[in-house]
Amino acid sequence: MLKYMRKYWPFALLAAFFMVCEVSVDMLQPRLMARIVDEGILGLNHGGLPDLDLIWSVGIQMILIVLAGGLCGMLSGTMANLCSQNFANQVRKECFRRIMHLSFQQTDAFTTGSLITRITNDVTQLERLVQQSVRGFIRCLMFMVVGTITLLSLDQRFLVIIACAFPLVLLNIGFVLWKTNPLFPLLQKKIDSMNTVIQENINGTRVVKAFIQEDRETERFGRANEDLSDTQLRVLLIMSYMRPVMNIILNLATVALIWIGAIHVRQGGLAPGEVMAAVTYISQILGGMMMLAMIFQTLSRGMASAARLKKILNTVPAIDDGPVRTGKTVPGWIRFDHVDFSYPDGSQTEVLRDIDLTIEPGETIAIVGATGCGKTSLVNLIPRFYDVTKGTVYVDGVDVRRYELAALREKVAFVTQKNELFSTTIRDNITLGRPGAPEEEVRRAAKAAQAEGFILEQPDGYDTAVAEGGMSLSGGQRQRIAISRALLKNATFLILDDSTSALDLRTEAALYQALEENYSGQTRIIIAQRIATARRADRIAVLDEGTIIACGTHEELLATCPVYQDICDSQMKSGGAA
Ligand SMILES: Nc1ncnc2c1ncn2[C@@H]1O[C@H](COP(=O)(O)OP(=O)(O)O)[C@@H](O)[C@H]1O
Ligand SMILES: [Mg+2]
Repeated sequence: MLKYMRKYWPFALLAAFFMVCEVSVDMLQPRLMARIVDEGILGLNHGGLPDLDLIWSVGIQMILIVLAGGLCGMLSGTMANLCSQNFANQVRKECFRRIMHLSFQQTDAFTTGSLITRITNDVTQLERLVQQSVRGFIRCLMFMVVGTITLLSLDQRFLVIIACAFPLVLLNIGFVLWKTNPLFPLLQKKIDSMNTVIQENINGTRVVKAFIQEDRETERFGRANEDLSDTQLRVLLIMSYMRPVMNIILNLATVALIWIGAIHVRQGGLAPGEVMAAVTYISQILGGMMMLAMIFQTLSRGMASAARLKKILNTVPAIDDGPVRTGKTVPGWIRFDHVDFSYPDGSQTEVLRDIDLTIEPGETIAIVGATGCGKTSLVNLIPRFYDVTKGTVYVDGVDVRRYELAALREKVAFVTQKNELFSTTIRDNITLGRPGAPEEEVRRAAKAAQAEGFILEQPDGYDTAVAEGGMSLSGGQRQRIAISRALLKNATFLILDDSTSALDLRTEAALYQALEENYSGQTRIIIAQRIATARRADRIAVLDEGTIIACGTHEELLATCPVYQDICDSQMKSGGAA
């Protein structure tokens, strides 16, 4: 974690330096005050008469010193902020970069809510830790050490008071830390849970409304929220007990000090002003200790957060780069070589079994099968969203695991089933894979995807803003923008995962026609629910419970594959009924 501090050590050192200056000034004041009282007012060196000149000159010294102290305080604060903010900024940036490189499986394991908490709240805790370390910690330490030395230099007999008060204070702080320490990791976990509920519900607000589940979900949030405030309350209750106890110790110490001081004044060993200074010092010393307790608390909370952030920073991406940048065969060739696959979630259920399939360059292959039979899982293996459990996937003659990830994914244009759009303009959504692509190519892609018609009808055409998640558009419109994006990428492979399901048959036909005319030569893999869509492909692979049971043209399959016949029959019937 310290390596993210690297550039900011000078700020930290300057913050600490100015802090030392500021505290030194604070600690000079009681001494000057004592002079004003003893020499100025009581006139102990002036024959018992007040010395107004001395009051003036020491008073002016006090004011100048206070001003200098204030300046040091400001500089120390500024440096500490520069240091902690820059450090936090670095950590946040690095965490985000790491999160972007995690595999799907790893992101799922962290949960979105927790990742958001970590990159926001946990980084804030860490930032406070840095602040407190470079400022508060030094302040307390100086108050305690220098204060004790100065106090003893006034009169060594004050040692008794310190010797009595210290153990009590330590006991008090120790107890609080012992009680609160285990609560901090728990606190961050509760924030995770609350964020997960918030995130799920805000994302799924349409579903929640459609199923009239607002009250139930509000209740669910209420539980997470209550859990959080319960834990927070436990911390605060323990803390709230600390301050009064410290105050009692402080006041007892003060009374003892005045009592001892008074005896020494009567005996002539101390001046009244010096006793006054001693009172200030003892409250600075014990106040410093009290602050130290708070700092330890920030420290332990910050450490808990640092551990959580380290989990992100130390996670090695499960899917990592290989050395290869280019393929060995004609571009556009895929082979699944006896591939088995199960999701790495520990469930061990085989999603794909012994897949053996070769797709030739320029070929269009359709994959059909019931929902949940593994179609999406199969195509996810091509750009390595997941790795196979057994066997090999070859792209252009090279095992996908041997590719540099960026080089492999450069080859693939993937339209996912969910058609994720971002809250920016339609143009930016289309040019996602090729920012700054020439206008005519953007329009060519949109035209082929049958999207230009409705895009031009939008208030600002291509520059119309899309609402978050694409909610300002219909399902079919979202699909067509997602397809435009994939076409603009002009990659070797085009994978459409159920991407034209929301289009009417005529629009869909026009789209495939345009693909043939404008983007010929691409190898296409089309996952389709409708036989009408699948029929356009050169070959159709029928997937059933994770295995390919048949592969061939529509006519061949109709003649030989009962599962395919069933799918056709059911669609004919529902088509007929419509
Ligand atoms: N991220 C995942 N983690 C664990 N299991 C999954 C995941 N995604 C899908 N599955 C499971 O894998 C099987 C195949 O899913 P999928 O490939 O999405 O099917 P299809 O696309 O054919 O509808 C299903 O049983 C599903 O429950
Ligand atoms: Mg699917």
